[in-house]
Amino acid sequence: MHFSRSFVGLVSLLFTKALAAPSDLRSRDLTSFVAAERAIALQGALNNIGPNGSEVPGAGSGFVVASPSKVNPDYFYTWTRDSALTLKMLIDEFIFGNTALLPTIWDYIHAQATLQTVSNPSGTFLPEGLGLGEPKFQVDGTRFNGAWGRPQRDGPALRAIALMTFSNWLLNNGQKSTAKTIIWPIISNDLSYVGQYWNQTGFDLWEETLGSSFFTIQNQHRSLVEGAQLAHDLGVTCTGCDQAPEVLCFLQSFWNGEWIVANINVDNGRTGVDGNSILGSIAVFDIDAYCDSPTIQPCNSQALANFKVLIDTFRATYEINDGIPEGQGVAVGRYPEDVYQGGNPWYLITTAAAEFLYDAVAQWEARHNLIVDETSLAFFKDIYPAVTVRQYNSGNANSPFFQIMDAVTAYADSFVAIAEKYIPANGSLAEQFNRDTGVPLSAYDLTWSYAAFVTMSQRRAGQYPASWGTRNAAAPPATCAGTSTQGVYAPATAAGAPNVTSTCQVNVVFNVNATTYYGENIYVVGNTSDLGAWQISNSLPLGAGGYTSERPLWSVSAYLNAGESVDYKYVRQEDCNQPYIYETVNRTLTVPACGSAGITTNDAWEGPVGTSGDC
Ligand code: NOJ
Ligand code: NOJ
Repeated sequence: MHFSRSFVGLVSLLFTKALAAPSDLRSRDLTSFVAAERAIALQGALNNIGPNGSEVPGAGSGFVVASPSKVNPDYFYTWTRDSALTLKMLIDEFIFGNTALLPTIWDYIHAQATLQTVSNPSGTFLPEGLGLGEPKFQVDGTRFNGAWGRPQRDGPALRAIALMTFSNWLLNNGQKSTAKTIIWPIISNDLSYVGQYWNQTGFDLWEETLGSSFFTIQNQHRSLVEGAQLAHDLGVTCTGCDQAPEVLCFLQSFWNGEWIVANINVDNGRTGVDGNSILGSIAVFDIDAYCDSPTIQPCNSQALANFKVLIDTFRATYEINDGIPEGQGVAVGRYPEDVYQGGNPWYLITTAAAEFLYDAVAQWEARHNLIVDETSLAFFKDIYPAVTVRQYNSGNANSPFFQIMDAVTAYADSFVAIAEKYIPANGSLAEQFNRDTGVPLSAYDLTWSYAAFVTMSQRRAGQYPASWGTRNAAAPPATCAGTSTQGVYAPATAAGAPNVTSTCQVNVVFNVNATTYYGENIYVVGNTSDLGAWQISNSLPLGAGGYTSERPLWSVSAYLNAGESVDYKYVRQEDCNQPYIYETVNRTLTVPACGSAGITTNDAWEGPVGTSGDC
């Protein structure tokens, strides 16, 4: 008897203790949860930045690693997009008063100056800037040769936006010459790229769809508008910024009358309802913008209508959203057809939904009015049923302006509460959480998840970045045209870029006849960096699109430096992690001289073959 009573007492003591543990953020109210999680998130992002980030040993100075996760998925790379969005957050934090972040900002600036010059599978930096479209690199800033959705044209725009935010701070703090001589040359390359290539298709932010992406175009437009103003302030020329009105014209074509179609100029079988569109609007948020601005701000009627469609879609998609009524926050993912890692809600998109609503409220309050029209009516009905199509003014005592603001703010908070519910007690943020159970999954400690939590927290706390000039942005022309301005590219040597010269490359098609088992893949690896410097993890994958029973052809098209002599060999591997099997010969070729026609190898596999394996 006695024994059993004390056993029960012990168990209940442990249980009580566990519930009351100070690390359990869920026991606090929303504001204190956000404050605690914001600090965890800021540190979580810093932990993933080289050279001192505690989670990413091996990362070079200033390189932001997407996640420490090295398997399933392997995110131990630096993405230009994730890095730029993270630095935009850190730079804003710095401007809001966290001066300790300055060295990290400078590390990033130096790292990016060098990274711009690195030749990669998207191309070289000189003469045409093509390499700037490469989405990801090794964490030491060297090229990544594997198959990938490339180019991705949002990267240069996002990087320019982050660097311009910092440059404007320098300008306002008596350091104009630093901005002009050290940082502007990096920005100038990126804006040249935007002005030259905005009208060419590329892969979307989810790295899957080759077309024209709302998120990309919206950020490209912002970068050019902001670039023109900064160039003016610094007394320099922005090559490419003249394209801004055409980019803005194109941005208008994503609206289908009911929602924003995330990717156009592509037929990917999707509805186009995609978190892409809210991430775009929060990335171009301008506290001074008018809500009818064609830049499609969070307070814009199309953006609001789209928000409702998106949220209703995800309410009906995930089991964890079952039973949550309209007008209340839900878990939000990339797009409803998504299957990546199971196709789940993402932390960074769920918090982005909240940020979007905080942004919209800030804009209405700053304008002192809200205009509800036919397009946005359904959005407002969900949270304020008495709403009608009309203007609500904050200065009019009879107008329920503030009731509507409170309703939208509560709606925003309800998305934060969803995030809170599915964030584990230690506050760590993975990429996704399970659509049926809410358990975290995919890449752990995702830098972008942390950055997104901090930017949401900034807006919730009333911290807004300075205007980027939406009011002065030129209106789009009446008829759109797919124009382009030739870019001007030069290494940003004052920021530490190597003084590279134009790299002339020649097309080399590697063709090898290699009979393979189902599931087996062929790679080519060699002694140059274009061929992975003998590192199998950075070899070039060949494709079997031309493989027939007559000819077991594997092939890949590469661009190699003109005139260089290359050692290489082919490698095979079953796709279930069997060991790599190398050819027993060392092959050599000499890349033809600059300006020559390309060459094609005509190789046949030499060496042991694999086994059918057990995949
Ligand atoms: C990896 C990409 O990062 C991810 O966005 C994509 O969904 C998967 N590859 C599948 O294509
Ligand atoms: C996959 C995401 O789809 C992509 O947007 C991101 O850049 C990478 N993961 C790295 O986080």
